[in-house]
Amino acid sequence: MATNRTFTMIKPDAVAEGHSGAILKMIEAAGFRIVALKMVRLTKERAGQFYAVHQERPFYDSLCTYMSSGQIIAAILEKKNAVADFRTLIGATNPADAAEGTIRKMYAKSMESNAVHGSDSDENAQIEGSFYFADTEKF
Ligand code: CDP
Ligand code: MG
Repeated sequence: MATNRTFTMIKPDAVAEGHSGAILKMIEAAGFRIVALKMVRLTKERAGQFYAVHQERPFYDSLCTYMSSGQIIAAILEKKNAVADFRTLIGATNPADAAEGTIRKMYAKSMESNAVHGSDSDENAQIEGSFYFADTEKF
């Protein structure tokens, strides 16, 4: 059953290139409420923990290097049907396949440097939010 929260990260190149404000504006304009927000830099080890589900994939090492290459913005977002609606807002993993008007279509540069993360399930939204915000229930 759908819950009302998801988790996102604005990835390093999108932050470094000054797209954070525009991306957060798109997120709010789409009806998401920002519940928790912070800017952090992951170590490669911590990026590896976040993406542990992908550790057998060929892109894992490069992804962890990329995700630890600069500051990111982590946020918990709230909206009815948040997980599915946010995946629609960000667009396909590969920006070449992302629909017009999606965040990845506008700001992603490649399959890897694809501007934003969005949780793929309610369960992972909870796990990923807790990875950054230990006490999410207080928000
Ligand atoms: O982020 P999303 O859920 O759309 O895709 P994923 O399959 O969970 O992959 C996580 C992240 O790994 C992607 O967002 C890309 O940054 C990266 N990736 C990659 O570099 N090369 C791939 N073939 C697939 C994913
Ligand atoms: Mg994913």
